[in-house]
Amino acid sequence: MKKIALTGIKPTGAPHIGNFLGAIQPALELAKTHDALYFIADYHALTSVRDKVLLREQIYSLAATWLAAGLDPDKVTFYRQSDIPEVFELTWILSCMAPKGLLNRAHAYKAATDVNTEAGHDLDHGIDCGLFYYPILMAADILLFSCHVVPVGQDQKQHLEITRDIAQTFNQTFGKILTLPEPLIQEEVKTVPGIDGRKMSKSYKNEIPLYTTSKKLKKRINQIVTDSKDVNDPKDPDNCNLFAIYCQFATAEAIAKTRARYLTGGLGYGELKGELFHLVDTFLSAGRARYDELMTDKNQIDIILAEGAEKARSIAKPLLEKVRKAIGVQKP
Ligand code: TRP
Repeated sequence: MKKIALTGIKPTGAPHIGNFLGAIQPALELAKTHDALYFIADYHALTSVRDKVLLREQIYSLAATWLAAGLDPDKVTFYRQSDIPEVFELTWILSCMAPKGLLNRAHAYKAATDVNTEAGHDLDHGIDCGLFYYPILMAADILLFSCHVVPVGQDQKQHLEITRDIAQTFNQTFGKILTLPEPLIQEEVKTVPGIDGRKMSKSYKNEIPLYTTSKKLKKRINQIVTDSKDVNDPKDPDNCNLFAIYCQFATAEAIAKTRARYLTGGLGYGELKGELFHLVDTFLSAGRARYDELMTDKNQIDIILAEGAEKARSIAKPLLEKVRKAIGVQKP
């Protein structure tokens, strides 16, 4: 029997090449050796997105991105969180097993209360219960599908620990029903810098968008920040984010040659940006066509997600039934 891998992605903005290299591609790789369940965590996005038109568009865009990147819905169970009502029933049940103090220490909530304390506000000023409950909803996403591994970025590690804690409490109280998941931390996320050299992230506005037009891609690559050395000056490849991004796309041979040209001088940043644009543009062109096709016929996406939801619910329902029986709300 293959092990089960599950992960969720929030539809909070257009996916960028950092997401692609750091999360989407490794997850698709993992799906070759695991039974994979990948979903769009749209109710998690509700903690920050408050515009219904935008939310809908971002859900479609994220779904189209995964499909364009090569997710095969016949092999991967691909669905939308909000289509699985069992998730929300399990969320409540798990909340009754979750010590409030555990959630007080969750990073996102703690960061928000720290800001309030700093500003001299009431501890919970402006904080929604959704933000506080976020880790429990995530635990339900995970535990409902008895998965073994959860590929996530470093920032989600604590959520996995909380999930395991809650599952353990449940199992100790009601019997061994929930599977304890292991995080699979994707280190690569850290090594994809944005155009300013910091980690590529929407919040830094330094991202290179994924399935955009060639023209916009070129413009963005030209905005990659470099130092002001001349063509003939020797340059430092290890402190250059243009070089770091280039390394994500070029062959080992091309990287070695470019590195040598950095060290000896004779390579202009403009020239390398042109080469990088060409590499990225070629790399993305097949996916871009599929992405555009899906975004102009969203009905295709609706059908795929509806089928995925049906498959996911056929796993979720029996597990939730076991849980209901174990706690006593349903006849054994
Ligand atoms: N919290 C995750 C993030 O922000 C998204 C997510 C929601 C998730 N539910 C999940 C990830 C379940 C893994 C498993 O990236």
